[in-house]
Amino acid sequence: MENQKKVMLSGIQPSGDLHLGNYLGAIKNWGARAEAFDCYYFMADMHTITVRQTPADLRRRTLEQLAQYIACGLDPEKNVLFVQSHVHQHAELGWVLNCYTMFGELSRMTQFKDKSAKNADNINGGLFTYPALMAADILLYQPDFVPVGEDQKQHVELTRNVAQRFNHIYGDVFKVPEPYIPKAGARVMGLTVPENKMSKSIPEGCVFLMEKPEDIQRKFKRAVTDSDTERCVRYDPEQKPGVSNLMQIYAACTGRTLDQIEAEFDGRGYGAFKPAVGEAVIELLRPIREEAARLLSDKAYLEQVCRTGAERASYVAEKTLRKVYKKVGFLAR
Ligand code: TYM
Repeated sequence: MENQKKVMLSGIQPSGDLHLGNYLGAIKNWGARAEAFDCYYFMADMHTITVRQTPADLRRRTLEQLAQYIACGLDPEKNVLFVQSHVHQHAELGWVLNCYTMFGELSRMTQFKDKSAKNADNINGGLFTYPALMAADILLYQPDFVPVGEDQKQHVELTRNVAQRFNHIYGDVFKVPEPYIPKAGARVMGLTVPENKMSKSIPEGCVFLMEKPEDIQRKFKRAVTDSDTERCVRYDPEQKPGVSNLMQIYAACTGRTLDQIEAEFDGRGYGAFKPAVGEAVIELLRPIREEAARLLSDKAYLEQVCRTGAERASYVAEKTLRKVYKKVGFLAR
């Protein structure tokens, strides 16, 4: 009988070390779902070269990212974990979908606008057509849900449009997936500039999963709060973006609601609040950091996980790719 489980898929670029935004916005939402879903999670290495990378660093970070996925609770026996470039169907479907993605659609992508502003000397074709490859990453596995942070919602919506366009011409080839965005942590802002999302490009405002507890606590103690005079812990993203961001982080780490957090810190001010958030993050990340370090000492095991994951992913991806090739009129091999 056909497998009736729903399918989940997501990926992260190994262009930098994983950070709290990646964890709360994405990975935390991936874990513990393997019983209910068929889950595919990958290291999106092909996407990273839209910006120049140092080859040895990219290789190292890709393996580290795999260790961190596993340490975050993604059991490779229950989830298909793989490296994007190991599954050649991504590049192949990416090309096809390029021909079904419109110039106007790609021009509207905020990630393209941001990245081309930051890399003005290297606005390459890959940076522009990146969302067509991302659509291929997704549609190959016919997922129901794509768990991502808020900033990737636009790309998932483009994927839906491309899938619908293709299906409209050729019949039901692709399942049209839904983005799956967490309630708390969908958009973790930087600790030094709370108006911008947390990202590795501002390391002082970014907490990395593998960072030492004392460094994490220092970053939280220095986190920018707000210049208003009331200095109370109250959720107001417009007037108090710094405090509101810390509240979101605390909520995502502890499972408490924003109301409960306001009550907990009522009358205690930022001096008590900031280290408490730091402590919650340290405790959340401690087991992940320790387990990832342990896994990284066994490279042979990680390489074996990559091989098995690529085989399993490739088997599923090939079925979709064959269907697509036939539909568009490529001669069977
Ligand atoms: P990437 O690598 O920039 O980010 C990976 C995941 O982390 C989430 N994220 C955040 N969430 C909350 N707050 C933040 N500050 C924050 N920063 C990052 C992102 O929303 C994302 O879920 N194009 C994708 C990678 C990709 C992909 C895919 C994702 C390639 N193919 C197919 C899903 C499905 C990207 O650049 O994410």
